[in-house]
Amino acid sequence: MAEPRPLRYALSGAGKRAWKTYLPLFGPDAYAPGIGTLVAVADIDPEQRAAVTARWQVPTFGGDIRSMLAATRPDMLIVTAPDHAHAEQIQAALSAGVEVLTEKPMTLSAAQAESVVAAERGSPASVRVAHNMRYLNLHQTVKRLLDERTIGQPVQLHLAYRLRPGHGRSYFLRWHRRTESSGGLQITKSCHHFDLLNWWLADRPQEVAGWTRRVHYRPDADTADRQVPADADIADVLSAVIRYRGGVTAHYSLSARSSWEGYTLTVLGTEGELTTRYEVEPADGARRAEDYTVEVSPLSGPPRSYTVSRETGRHSGADAHMIDALLRHSAAQPEDHTATAVDGAYAVAVGEALTRSAAGGAVVAVDGLLPGICAHPAHAEPAWATTRKES
Ligand SMILES: NC(=O)c1ccc[n+]([C@@H]2O[C@H](COP(=O)([O-])OP(=O)(O)OC[C@H]3O[C@@H](n4cnc5c(N)ncnc54)[C@H](O)[C@@H]3O)[C@@H](O)[C@H]2O)c1
Repeated sequence: MAEPRPLRYALSGAGKRAWKTYLPLFGPDAYAPGIGTLVAVADIDPEQRAAVTARWQVPTFGGDIRSMLAATRPDMLIVTAPDHAHAEQIQAALSAGVEVLTEKPMTLSAAQAESVVAAERGSPASVRVAHNMRYLNLHQTVKRLLDERTIGQPVQLHLAYRLRPGHGRSYFLRWHRRTESSGGLQITKSCHHFDLLNWWLADRPQEVAGWTRRVHYRPDADTADRQVPADADIADVLSAVIRYRGGVTAHYSLSARSSWEGYTLTVLGTEGELTTRYEVEPADGARRAEDYTVEVSPLSGPPRSYTVSRETGRHSGADAHMIDALLRHSAAQPEDHTATAVDGAYAVAVGEALTRSAAGGAVVAVDGLLPGICAHPAHAEPAWATTRKES
């Protein structure tokens, strides 16, 4: 069988994420073995363009993605620009018939997500969202144990995420601090967690009640480690209850200032309980070394403990697995965990429902934010990844 043709990639947004995760894949000749060739990079910042040119002999462009796509005709656009630029750039690629791998969140709003999904329907190309948390070995173990019904049918889920102070505050110092740029932590950060919940439960979220507060980071805070610019308008403490179509309720919280970083998870099912703790970093930033443990306590029978090895690498090894799966199509990643555009839309819509509920005090229907997606026959059922295109 003939080897597939190596793809040609363009990348938009040569900032931190790009330099840490995607650009280093490409060698001095702009070729990444098993992946393909980098043919163009766009960034609005001339310094970033100069840094790219110093390393690779590829054409660089400003923020006009359409010109880049027309001039260089890549097979795929990797979107690593800030969140507020995603929707327009994804749609530019789709209208040029160019495949898209976009960083999370897919878009800033549910309305933008609807436009992306509609554009995908009219394009020969598809969108995949880099929801890298799906590729963490711990998360795949949790998914397998839930899918295998080790605790029966999930009934309630509790996910409490926290950030250590330096990381939490960083969102208030960069572009994320403005809702117009990031959607707030409930979009730019929690979309990771909302996608995990949707994927673990293999269901679509139906309604959300939520609350948001600014507790920790303020321009007038009495200690320097909590002071942030006056134009920050996002919350640092989030709480939500998400009800799924199948009836599961997920209780979610995020605090942007805690003594350690990661989450505690408990899933209560009809036949038992599953718990785990994903500790990324203690407050001092030191790396944890010990493996993860997932505890399953069935209603009948002895408790079971599953050990999952702690991997090294960016995002606890998740990024390398994601690149293997989404760009190398490696046989080492036999299961398809791809987040589609519809999956990306639901992760964003939960965040927006939380924002709206917090502002208005009401329970917000997620489907009401995604009327076009819900009305489309291909997406009517919550079946997993119904939108994936046949290649
Ligand atoms: N999956 C993850 O774990 C993860 C981690 C970090 C960041 N991200 C995502 O990656 C994206 C980039 O984040 P970052 O931390 O690298 O931000 P960044 O600010 O470091 O980099 C963004 C780059 O995009 C450029 N840019 C701004 N507007 C642009 C436009 N319209 N067109 C082209 N380039 C533009 C900026 O000049 C900058 O160089 C965000 O969407 C973020 O949410 C994901």
